[in-house]
Amino acid sequence: MKKIFVSILLSFCLLKASADEGMWLPMLLGQQVYDNMVKKGLKLTKEQLYSVNGSSLKDAILIFGGGCTGEIVSNEGLIFTNHHCGYAAIAGASTVEHNYLEDGFYAFNKGQEIKSELTVQFLDRIVDVTKEVEEGFKGLAWADRAAKTQEVYKTITDKVLDKENGLAGRVYSMFKGNQYLMYVYKTYRDIRLVGAPPEKVGKFGGDTDNWEWPRHTGDFSIFRVYAAKDGKPADYNEGNTPLKPKYFLPVSIKGIKDGDYAMIYGYPGSTNRYETSYGIKLKNEIENPSLVNLRDVRLKLMHGQMIKNPAVKLKLASNYAGIANYWKFYDGETKQLIKFKTFEQKQAYEKKFADWAKGKPEYENIFDGYEKNYAAWTPYSKQRQYLNEGILGSPLAAFAASLIGIETNLVKTGISSAEIKKSIEAAGVIRKTFLTAEDKISDEQILAKMAMIFYTDIDKSQHPIGFYQSIKTSYGDLRDDETFKKWAKDVFAQTMIFDDVKWAAFTARPDATVLQADPAFAYAAAFVKNYNLKYASLYAAFTSKNAELGKSYLKGIMEMNPTAASKMYPDANFSMRVSYGNVKSYSPGNAVKYDYLTTAKGILDKYIAGDYEFDLPAKQIELLKKRDFGQYIDKGRNDLVIDFITTNDITGGNSGSPVIDGSGNLIGLAFDGNYEALSHKITFDKDLNRTICVDVRYVLWCIDKLGGAKNIINELKLVK
Ligand code: ARG
Repeated sequence: MKKIFVSILLSFCLLKASADEGMWLPMLLGQQVYDNMVKKGLKLTKEQLYSVNGSSLKDAILIFGGGCTGEIVSNEGLIFTNHHCGYAAIAGASTVEHNYLEDGFYAFNKGQEIKSELTVQFLDRIVDVTKEVEEGFKGLAWADRAAKTQEVYKTITDKVLDKENGLAGRVYSMFKGNQYLMYVYKTYRDIRLVGAPPEKVGKFGGDTDNWEWPRHTGDFSIFRVYAAKDGKPADYNEGNTPLKPKYFLPVSIKGIKDGDYAMIYGYPGSTNRYETSYGIKLKNEIENPSLVNLRDVRLKLMHGQMIKNPAVKLKLASNYAGIANYWKFYDGETKQLIKFKTFEQKQAYEKKFADWAKGKPEYENIFDGYEKNYAAWTPYSKQRQYLNEGILGSPLAAFAASLIGIETNLVKTGISSAEIKKSIEAAGVIRKTFLTAEDKISDEQILAKMAMIFYTDIDKSQHPIGFYQSIKTSYGDLRDDETFKKWAKDVFAQTMIFDDVKWAAFTARPDATVLQADPAFAYAAAFVKNYNLKYASLYAAFTSKNAELGKSYLKGIMEMNPTAASKMYPDANFSMRVSYGNVKSYSPGNAVKYDYLTTAKGILDKYIAGDYEFDLPAKQIELLKKRDFGQYIDKGRNDLVIDFITTNDITGGNSGSPVIDGSGNLIGLAFDGNYEALSHKITFDKDLNRTICVDVRYVLWCIDKLGGAKNIINELKLVK
């Protein structure tokens, strides 16, 4: 029976948001979407959600660092975000002696807050720049657009650039290039660490529980925005003062029930809800399995050293978490795409589209185009993945590859010595960062393993010429692990990258032949140049053709069903969105039902003393056992609520986003998605999709009872 309904269902899914699907532009909320929010339980006006002139909820939302969301929760610029968003800053502030990652940290007054390298960005305004962008692209073939895009965007954003006030614009392509919006952001650069729970709380459950419900993670951290005395953005300075924000979120400790309204503001990074069956096939058969296998190898080698040595753990922790996060994601994504039969569903929809498009010259050849485009690129896609995730998965190789620009400058004629000096100095800075983050033992193992896997898995015709022959000549059988281990050992022993004396000699008198003879450089450059020379242009042609076809396809979809088009939302692209839904339990499988929240009892059940992922601080166990929950207790459950789930449509980038009740109060922080719906970037499942949130009452309990930082609680506006 299911099959018969596939095409009807699909036109529905593809054309308008169903259930709680939808990442809406908060400033362009259609009346229908707003009415649905009200029906679900929203009690605020449109103006309270997003006001062009006055202050509104959106003014409390910010881009945190490079890829997360945060929210302002006090009139002194206090920020809540996730622990995994503050992770690098917390690890960066830590030493083996003062290990804030391990032990947690709270500033009991402003003087104790710790400087970071972070920035945050507030949305100032939005401008539709479709006309200007199209004007800039006029007369250009699609294949030439990519190279011009930055220039076209820059002409537009230059007009709003205001360095003194920290204002800068960024252009976003919406609906696959059918519309362009410029968001103007105000960036603050003095951001200080205020608090973080011990990692055992902030990352409780580790990678085993990551992307899974039920969950018991206290995934939060706390920062503060500082500004110059006049309120303008400024570099770190002791004289700066906490930012007086335009708006901040009150915090509700009233608790949640199944079915309650929940709304999430934030910056979802990327989705591709209009992906074609061709894209899904390539993803499922080549891209995802390659990435997962390569990351699996790298992670095991890194982990092997991290568990042995706390200093190595601190060095690699943040990088490791990032690699592991999307290792599990892409593995789960393919599993769910197969489970949902997304490929078959897309094919059925594409057939329907093709039938509609017959006789319409603008649309009738779109799928022929896709077929040819994918056929041309597919034979090389594995190699591209193996280069990025394999060869360059060695930090040494990645740094060595970054020196290719210097070599180019050295061999080219007409490059001034000043220019060469500049590129050498820049490399020196990157080298320092590389060396502080480098763990040689795991990296040497990764280098060896990746070189060998590339050899065995990638078609010989795509290998860099001569590289493997030279290994064979000097080190032996290419099917033997030992061969690559011996080679990697020599690379590490001989490269100037680890040798300050050799590096200084090279940078004092830069010479292309010295660089070319360096074994780390020679290795990385061989693979990168092989790709750049033979395959980069094919990849560029593939992506630009896809962009061209995608724009027409989406335009066609909207034309095919104009009534539904008014309810479409653009794919996520790290621009501000709002998603609305409810707190809600779900059934992950036959006869199984998941509750909508987890409690302290569950933490104690999961706790394993001394475990890498499920250990807990002794004080936490003591307090939980004593049931010292204070005002944060959930009276209905007679327990401390830890995490809860909602039906909201979010994705990576939303991490740290505020979960807001119908009256505009903070009830939790979104930090993850559930495994059963990990295909969410491509397809939203209305029954299974859930957002995993940490209950704000647990956040406050950790700060207050576990951390003793009453000063932070006192700064908040609590709604009881
Ligand atoms: N899955 C979360 C996200 O992408 C990140 C969680 C980090 N935790 C971890 N165990 N790696 O937002």
